[in-house]
Amino acid sequence: MSGQRTFTMLKPDAVEKGYTGAILNQINEAGFRIVALKKTQMTTSDAQTFYAIHKERPFFGELVEYMTRGPIIAAILEKDNAVEDFRALIGATNPADAAEGTIRKKYAVSISENAVHGSDSDENAEIEGAFHFSGREMF
Ligand code: RTP
Ligand code: MG
Repeated sequence: MSGQRTFTMLKPDAVEKGYTGAILNQINEAGFRIVALKKTQMTTSDAQTFYAIHKERPFFGELVEYMTRGPIIAAILEKDNAVEDFRALIGATNPADAAEGTIRKKYAVSISENAVHGSDSDENAEIEGAFHFSGREMF
């Protein structure tokens, strides 16, 4: 249903540092229900496709390297107003600008390595969720 689902990835830096449990717990406590969840690693081609919107940006190469350097946790989450509420929960792209208590404020190191992804629209949540999960992996 529109507005009820978003897609997230706990990025390689967060997984490497052992923050998976703490971040999933914060997501759970904020009222999101897990529809789909897995640990996986993106290939270069996966990351180039997933972030195709940024392909002309100067940081694109660095972004693809970062997102493919180790495993991620991918998840589809459900809640009323999921996209907007999840973006509020993770905080600004640059952790230096993120509000106190947000996931990026607590766990991100820089604008490049910022611990977590959150879809920016209902349409992209649907596309990104379908990129990582088949229908039989969603509950
Ligand atoms: P995301 O898509 O991962 O949820 O992040 P976002 O919407 O807050 O930010 P976006 O503009 O979509 O950027 C995607 C990711 O690219 C990396 N980035 N690096 N070095 C830089 O200036 C820079 N800017 C963005 C970050 O990993 C960012 O989350
Ligand atoms: Mg984005």
